[in-house]
Amino acid sequence: MADKRSILPATQQPLHLVIVGHVDHGKSSLIGRLLYDTDSLPEGKLEELKAVSAKRGMPIEWSFVLDAFQAERDQAITIDTTRIWFRTFKRDVVIIDAPGHHEFIKNMISGAANAEAAILVVDAGEGVQEQTKRHGYLLYLLGIRQVTVAVNKMDLIDYDRQRFATVTGEVTDYLGKLGIKPKFIVPISAREGDNIAKPSARMPWYDGPTVLESLDRLQSTSAPVDQPLRFPVQDIYKFDDRRIIAGRIETGVLRVGDTLVFSPSNKTARVRSIEAWNVDPKPVSASAGQSVGITLDQQVFVERGEIGSHDFNPPNLSNVFRTTLFWLGRKPLTVGDSLKIKLATREARVTVEALDAVIDTNSLAKGRAETLERNGVGTVVLRSREVLALDGYARSARTGRIVLIDGYDTVAGGVVSLEGYPDQRSVMTVKSTNIYSVAHSVEANSRAQVNGHTGGVLWFTGLSGAGKSTLAMEVEQRLFKRGLQVYVLDGDNVRRGLNKNLGFSPDDRAENIRRIGEVAALFADAGLVCITAFISPYRADRDRARAAAPGLFHEVYVKADLATCEQRDPKGLYKKARAGEIAEFTGISAPYEPPVEPEMVVDTAEVDIADCVEQIVDYVERTFRVKDG
Ligand code: ADX
Repeated sequence: MADKRSILPATQQPLHLVIVGHVDHGKSSLIGRLLYDTDSLPEGKLEELKAVSAKRGMPIEWSFVLDAFQAERDQAITIDTTRIWFRTFKRDVVIIDAPGHHEFIKNMISGAANAEAAILVVDAGEGVQEQTKRHGYLLYLLGIRQVTVAVNKMDLIDYDRQRFATVTGEVTDYLGKLGIKPKFIVPISAREGDNIAKPSARMPWYDGPTVLESLDRLQSTSAPVDQPLRFPVQDIYKFDDRRIIAGRIETGVLRVGDTLVFSPSNKTARVRSIEAWNVDPKPVSASAGQSVGITLDQQVFVERGEIGSHDFNPPNLSNVFRTTLFWLGRKPLTVGDSLKIKLATREARVTVEALDAVIDTNSLAKGRAETLERNGVGTVVLRSREVLALDGYARSARTGRIVLIDGYDTVAGGVVSLEGYPDQRSVMTVKSTNIYSVAHSVEANSRAQVNGHTGGVLWFTGLSGAGKSTLAMEVEQRLFKRGLQVYVLDGDNVRRGLNKNLGFSPDDRAENIRRIGEVAALFADAGLVCITAFISPYRADRDRARAAAPGLFHEVYVKADLATCEQRDPKGLYKKARAGEIAEFTGISAPYEPPVEPEMVVDTAEVDIADCVEQIVDYVERTFRVKDG
């Protein structure tokens, strides 16, 4: 179906609107009034409403309009059950879902409702309430920045200008802290129809737009063509000998001839054609908001869930990231929970690795807690088994937003932050081609016989100041004296040579560890016991180092808590980091992910260095020594 939005000029495109606010502040009345004032009530509804009201001897209750819609919904008479349309002076407005509908928040956070603008309703008498704030926070979380605040029930406070100013202050104060500046703040009475469609004679002191006018001044933002291309794959169809990759372009523009990379498989091919039925000639480009099928110039294997992008601007690849989410689960969220994640068309399993902070949406204070309760907002770290293709929310709203599912239940929606984590694309990408490996004539066994021990990697990981280098050098000396071929690769040393072009950004650390992992594997292959002393803060990087030396890799967690390391501070770096002189310092302003199942743990905070050395030397003797005979 042709998308109406792509044809109409921005100001005339339909506006997708949500109406939020505290439960009794008049959302439903406002909708009822908007429908009436814009002549959008279904046939006969007004008469019905008048009759009901007359029978009760009461004025028309506008919120009943919604009940009428609800009744139709329940009888499944209307086709579209969650959308209510009306027309302003300039364009159509779609109210997404109805307040009070129990799936409302769920639809919003799951992105089923992609709202572009919101009306936040606040009762003039009661002012900003806790739920007003929570809904305000939700708008912030979902990236809805176009907000009209409707200060309702002005009739009940005699259209008092002073009170309106006070409530205006409360709202702008709260939203301001979230970085949202309301576009308009309109004093209204939904019941009396003040400032809804017509300016109110009862508030001559107000010279801003009516609610309806305010909607006309908001932008439709539904076709983000100027963002990087994101084309999540929905399905693959086989037609005669063609494979058609189908999906919806979420952002950006796709053209025939473009080189696309599909993530996370990292496969590359060029767009041969954009398929369209009954369109002649075939289109040469397609853009955000359109659902298309494309064919490629090569038969690369692409699956549902992958994201197509331009090769020069792909999404990130990571199996760990942070998300700020709105939790709806009946059971509180806890570290260790396993959930299903939906990210565009991709589904995968994730575990909750950490609950960094719980955010009080009332005071906006960040606190610590063991669990995140229902309707709470918190920041968590999620880890998946497979690598996922994703964007930071600030970079791409459509592929930087996640939904979490428990069983069949949507339990959370959130936005992604990749800060502090490396993009694993570069360490996963293989660029060399036409490579044929050559077999050694000296076998590993022969080397072991001559040396008296097998080769291997002892991978030390831990915070700076945990004692990795001290232990490594001591163990090296002890083993050497016992006749073992042993060599230490140390962070500070290797960063002066092989890795001197790398800093401490997450990406650089990932590359640092990739190279060391490969070098250590070569040393092990050469028959040496290679000890590495690197912080190596990311689990994924250490796992890759393990994979580089299959069967020969031994992870040693050199454990010491942050307080102990900071107290030792052998190089004075913690002090500098605390003073803000070193950015991204591990443990202070950059993450450290401890090993899950290391072969060995030595706790230097609890055990003497000499004893730790002893333990490691013993381990090496037991594991590497070739037994006589
Ligand atoms: S890693 O994170 O990439 O594995 P590596 O072990 O090579 O780090 O280097 C860590 C050493 O670099 C630390 O012991 C410290 O002396 C120094 N260093 C300098 N800046 C930083 C930083 N921002 N974070 C951690 N270590 C740093």
